[in-house]
Amino acid sequence: MADNKQENGRINGFSKLDKRQRREWLLNQFLPGRTNEEFTYFDADSGDLQQVFDNFSENTVASFPLPFGIAPNFLINGKTYAVPMVTEESSVVAAASSSAKYWLTRGGFRVEVVATEKLGQLHFRWAGHPDRRAALLPDLKAHLERATAGITDRMEARGGGVRGLTWKHLPTVDPQCYQLLVRFGTGDSMGANFINTVLEAYATELEAWSATSAALSDEERDVEVIMAILSNHTPNCVVTAAVSCPIEEMNIPGSGVDAADFVRRFRLAVDIAREDTYRAVTHNKGIMNGIDAVVLATGNDFRAVESAAHAFAAESGRYRSLSRCRVEDDIFHFELTVPLALGTVGGLTRLHPLADLALDIMGRPSARELMCIAAATGLAQNFAALRSLVTTGIQQGHMKMHLQNILSSLQASPPERQQTAEFFRGRTVSHHGVRQYLDRLREGGVGG
Ligand code: MEV
Repeated sequence: MADNKQENGRINGFSKLDKRQRREWLLNQFLPGRTNEEFTYFDADSGDLQQVFDNFSENTVASFPLPFGIAPNFLINGKTYAVPMVTEESSVVAAASSSAKYWLTRGGFRVEVVATEKLGQLHFRWAGHPDRRAALLPDLKAHLERATAGITDRMEARGGGVRGLTWKHLPTVDPQCYQLLVRFGTGDSMGANFINTVLEAYATELEAWSATSAALSDEERDVEVIMAILSNHTPNCVVTAAVSCPIEEMNIPGSGVDAADFVRRFRLAVDIAREDTYRAVTHNKGIMNGIDAVVLATGNDFRAVESAAHAFAAESGRYRSLSRCRVEDDIFHFELTVPLALGTVGGLTRLHPLADLALDIMGRPSARELMCIAAATGLAQNFAALRSLVTTGIQQGHMKMHLQNILSSLQASPPERQQTAEFFRGRTVSHHGVRQYLDRLREGGVGG
């Protein structure tokens, strides 16, 4: 380790250190007074399991847990699910649960997978004339298919594979810049590995084709591959979740507004998010609170899902709400359309024991079924947020959790928690205020 150590927080070969050495280095360089134990709070008891976690990423020094909660009573396409959610944000699971229960007695969520196509891109420079693409594409396609059959066979047997190919010209980038846009089906896997493997093989085979194909003239043989990678923009891997019920059943007990007024205000709130980007971003963040939590719980890639959702929200050229609301014949309709590239096999889905558990809790859904569950959770979350916003305001619910978090940070005992909660009912909660109250309570200055 001494060889690796450098002064002033810099180091060569950090990745070559073992975990204990990395921690020691951090303690020496950045954490005077802290101890090794502070890294080990959440280490798995079993060394093998810890090794599994450590292997998910690089340079690991600790495990960082997040709460794994359940939103029960989700009625989705006639089946009831307990939905696993992993999130650090208070009130999210409570809001999803309360929304699920609300819709349980109003027909539940109807969810439809619109399409499940994924995309990949191979970018390259080519010296030929753009008009020659149509004539050459069948020859290129046949070559690529033949040369990569060994990679695509197994996926085809699982109902996936390459679905098609477009050869695009990108003259605004460079007159010789081109893209092969490849469409994929990936069965129950998210498919990133499969898609990237196929694309990299396509890159090699594009060069082989350009060197050998009899369809090309000598001037057309000049190809330079730039890059090959899947696209996280998945506008054809989309699911729509919807709820509806007669307006008169849209009562919100304790809200102080009647059903018709609630629906009017709710619809306005959604319409505002369809028109105003500042509001749309917050509105969609609320949707992603639900979706990301399911995506995380099932070991899926939340960054991919996030970037796809926001690109989709901006497809019209303007960033808009992903959900819509309408009233027709006195029926309230609320729906969400969102791209969701999810998998239920491969990746972390089996490797992470809690992702595996989450999938078991939902009855080991197919990728399509998981798309439905995640979309329903996003719609439920959005409904709960807007329901609060247009009635009591969001803080009322948040404050209860906020208070509990403050009390935890101040190591309050159960009786102290109870008394403080009673005191702050209807009052504004702040860290300072709670600390003051608790100090007085502990000094015996608050009457029982
Ligand atoms: C907070 O995480 C999410 C909300 O801001 C969503 C919304 O405003 O619709 C409450």
